[in-house]
Amino acid sequence: MRNDKLWKSSLFFFVLNCCVLITPTDEFSLGNCTIYFPFDYSKHLKVRCCRMDYRRIPSTLPQNTVDLDISCNSITRINEGDFIRLPNLIILNMSHNRISEITNNALSDLPNLEELNLSNNKIQAVTTKLLSGLANLSHLRLDSNYLEVIENQSFATLSNLRFVNLTNNKLKHISRFQSVFQIPHLEELYLGMNRFSVFNSSDIPSALFGLKKLDLSLNPLTMFKITENIFPGLEYLDLAACFQNDTLDWLILDKGFLNTIKTLNLSRNLIAEKQLGDIMQSFTSVTWMALDYLKEFNVETLLQKACSRSLLNELHLKGNGVLSMYKSSLEHLVNLTELRIRNNRLTQLNDTLQVLPNLRLLDLYFNDIKKLDCSDFANLTQLRQLFLGGNGIVTINACIFKDLGNLDELILHSNSLLMLGDAFTYGPQNLRYLDLTGNKLSTLENLSFKALRSLQVLYLTDNQILTIKPHAFEGLINLAEISLACNKITQRTPKIFAGFAAMARLQILDLSCNYLSYESQVELRNPPFIMLSELKVLKMNSQHRGLKHMPSNLLKGLKKLDAFYAGNLNVECLHVDTFTYTPNLYYLDLTSNNFVNRNALTSRLFHPISGLHVLHLGQSHLKSLNFLVDANLSSLKSLHASTNDLQLINQTIIQSLPQLKQLELHNNSFTCDCNNVWFIDWAAVNNATQVLYLNRYECRYPLSLSGTNLAAFNTESCYVNYDFICFICSSSIVILTLVVSFIYHFLKWQLVYTYYLFLAFLNDGKRKRTTKHLSFQYDAFISYNVQEEPWVMEELVPKLEGEHGLRLCLHHRDFEPGKAIIDNIMDGIYNSRKTVCLITHNYLKSVWCSHEIQVASFRLFDEQKDVLVLVFLEDIPTQQLSPYYRMRKLVKKRTYLRWPKPGEDTRAFWQKLKMAIETKENMEEDRRILSGKDKDCV
Ligand SMILES: *[C@@H]1O[C@H](CO)[C@@H](O)[C@H](O)[C@H]1NC(C)=O
Ligand SMILES: *[C@@H]1O[C@H](CO)[C@@H](O)[C@H](O)[C@H]1NC(C)=O
Ligand SMILES: *[C@@H]1O[C@H](CO)[C@@H](O)[C@H](O)[C@H]1NC(C)=O
Ligand SMILES: *[C@@H]1O[C@H](CO)[C@@H](O)[C@H](O)[C@H]1NC(C)=O
Ligand SMILES: *[C@@H]1O[C@H](CO)[C@@H](O)[C@H](O)[C@H]1NC(C)=O
Ligand SMILES: *[C@@H]1O[C@H](CO)[C@@H](O)[C@H](O)[C@H]1NC(C)=O
Repeated sequence: MRNDKLWKSSLFFFVLNCCVLITPTDEFSLGNCTIYFPFDYSKHLKVRCCRMDYRRIPSTLPQNTVDLDISCNSITRINEGDFIRLPNLIILNMSHNRISEITNNALSDLPNLEELNLSNNKIQAVTTKLLSGLANLSHLRLDSNYLEVIENQSFATLSNLRFVNLTNNKLKHISRFQSVFQIPHLEELYLGMNRFSVFNSSDIPSALFGLKKLDLSLNPLTMFKITENIFPGLEYLDLAACFQNDTLDWLILDKGFLNTIKTLNLSRNLIAEKQLGDIMQSFTSVTWMALDYLKEFNVETLLQKACSRSLLNELHLKGNGVLSMYKSSLEHLVNLTELRIRNNRLTQLNDTLQVLPNLRLLDLYFNDIKKLDCSDFANLTQLRQLFLGGNGIVTINACIFKDLGNLDELILHSNSLLMLGDAFTYGPQNLRYLDLTGNKLSTLENLSFKALRSLQVLYLTDNQILTIKPHAFEGLINLAEISLACNKITQRTPKIFAGFAAMARLQILDLSCNYLSYESQVELRNPPFIMLSELKVLKMNSQHRGLKHMPSNLLKGLKKLDAFYAGNLNVECLHVDTFTYTPNLYYLDLTSNNFVNRNALTSRLFHPISGLHVLHLGQSHLKSLNFLVDANLSSLKSLHASTNDLQLINQTIIQSLPQLKQLELHNNSFTCDCNNVWFIDWAAVNNATQVLYLNRYECRYPLSLSGTNLAAFNTESCYVNYDFICFICSSSIVILTLVVSFIYHFLKWQLVYTYYLFLAFLNDGKRKRTTKHLSFQYDAFISYNVQEEPWVMEELVPKLEGEHGLRLCLHHRDFEPGKAIIDNIMDGIYNSRKTVCLITHNYLKSVWCSHEIQVASFRLFDEQKDVLVLVFLEDIPTQQLSPYYRMRKLVKKRTYLRWPKPGEDTRAFWQKLKMAIETKENMEEDRRILSGKDKDCV
């Protein structure tokens, strides 16, 4: 294995050009968690890992996380070391898990922690070591656990703790958890919903000077005794639902002990009115009091008992079944500014409220007031907020609001208004917020809102509006937001769009959930929003019959449009000019449309809106995101395309979105094979874009992997292949290099020779045609060493010239005198059909002979003719031959002849030699050799 690695790494240099090795970087993967904008790794991070079924604290969280929310998971234990990588945490929310055990010192890695939320777990005890080390902790939530025990000294080291919530546990005796009351700077203590039956100041070791808020609600108290001034600074006391019956033992030794309390909640106590009245008398300075849902309540009598009546600013009387009120019962509440009597049974107000001239907020939600009188709100000149929702009011007269010159907010939703009539023709002039949602208005008449010159927000959502008169909105010169959502408006609603012209400052227009619909993309003659040049947000989503088509100039005039909601419209494609009118578009929602066609969205569509930051394309039947490649969306930060039919996300798409920070793609038809490997790896590893909920992405293809987790797809296998290919590729190169150099070194001549034979073979046909008719002066040029001259003259010449009639060229006989020897050799060889070399030891040493052999060989290259015939007159051991001869001897048996040993018969030799000379050329034979058909010739 080691060798293998060495081998591979040494090959690396060979393969640099042919492949790129992917080196995995060590970035973190966020898995199921989400980092919230602003998304900047240099700054402190907020990480949300809610509802992800985590069983333990994930180890992959970024180290600079400052705020971690890992609530609503399935964590059961916190172990030592779980937070070792998160030393910067300041806020930690682990609520709604199943934590029952936190090992000692598990939290001591968090020296900077300020807020710790452990609510809704299964913790049974706060031990001394549990919270040790949290020197900076100021907020602690342990509510909704199973706490029964809080050990002494548990909070001893938490010198900065100010807020403790222990609501909804199983604590019984205050005397058993004194450590809570020893927290030096405690300001807020929540002890509601436990099992205390006794609250006695003598159980508390020493006064809590800093305590401002104490919540004891929902404890079954039978005794409440304060005999010492233990809460000298207490401002808020919650005793809601504490006293369930009349056997209560209530003792406040000195009224001065509670005279700092300003806020008192006595709601939901089921004791007799008389006893409640007694309790109320212990509080002399209360300005805020809640008396909701009492068992017995009588406006006339109970309120008389509150000794601080005249101090009261805010009074809550919710859910007490009040039928009527009288001036006499309210007239002492002179300082009252907020009166909340929602969920009662008032049918008429008469003129009782006139005695409360300082009232600023009046909450009459969910009573039974069908009709308002002109005197109901007379004199309430200070009133700012009037809530009349859920009453069944049918009509409103102009006189009702005549004194409400300061009214800012009027809520009339969920009534039964059929028409507005003159309700707003005189006032309230300073109204800024009017909510008429959920009534039964069908027509908006001209001048309906004439006097509301200050109105900024108008909700007409969820009515039956079908007709809007051309001057309906006249007077709304300051209106910034109007909602006409969920009405019956169609594109033909008379003059609806003409009316918009009056609202020159309009910034938000909601027309969603109506009946708008267009038959084609053809330009409209009167684009509806042409006058709304200030509009920033337009909502047209969810038209009941589907908008179907978006006319190409629908958005004309909206030059400041920021956000366009066009989801759920059953639109099939968008005209390329759609957004040419809205160059400032920042947010575009096209979810739930029907972009089945591949050309439904084009790159050009997005060119006019290159500043787009957020794009929603979920549930739109998209098959690919390729249109984004040239869309020039260089500012896009957030892309949502979940629930589509996307299979592959390639690198070019992602690279065309340089600013992308969030990408949401779950529930697509991902293909889990090597084609998607780039995306799978990038999604997990890149540190610029978080791919939301990557762990939930499922594979759809190939079918064998359908339903498996995309992130779990083993991309390694793809790279292993590349590696392997690299390996093969590089090994081959090396081996080839080795072989080539080997061959070059040892077999150079054989190679060169074979190469020329091969060339000659290729040119065979051509040669046949061109050389057929050439005739030669000689049949053979005889190349020999002078020492062989006797043999030539006595044996060879008589035999070949005499007996066989061949013409031979012999240098001593036929060379032209006076000509350079080399020229003579050339002529001799070129004028002969063959060159016969008579090889002996001397021949091999001779310079001229080797010239002759070279020239003969040269004819092979020159004329594609192999003319050499080698005749060995002596036995020459093969190793003494040069590689050239050796090769020739090997491959050309026929032209390699041996002179018989003395005594042997020479006839066969002469016969063969004659044939070798007479053979036209040796090409036939070469061909047979090269094609391996020469076996029979051995
Ligand atoms: C992420 O979520 C899935 C399902 O919600 C869960 O099975 C998994 O354990 C979670 N955690 C990690 C680290 O993937
Ligand atoms: C205290 O805990 C209770 C019960 O979980 C919760 O309803 C309440 O909002 C908490 N109060 C504060 C101030 O956190
Ligand atoms: C009052 O409450 C105590 C304890 O909860 C109970 O024992 C007693 O019977 C109750 N009395 C009445 C009259 O309900
Ligand atoms: C009303 O409250 C103010 C302070 O909010 C106080 O000064 C004034 O005395 C109060 N009025 C009465 C009649 O108690
Ligand atoms: C309102 O006043 C009328 C007389 O002005 C009276 O008959 C009626 O009972 C009063 N209703 C309420 C609810 O106070
Ligand atoms: C309205 O209030 C003024 C003083 O604020 C008072 O003089 C007048 O009597 C009140 N009107 C009614 C109808 O109570």
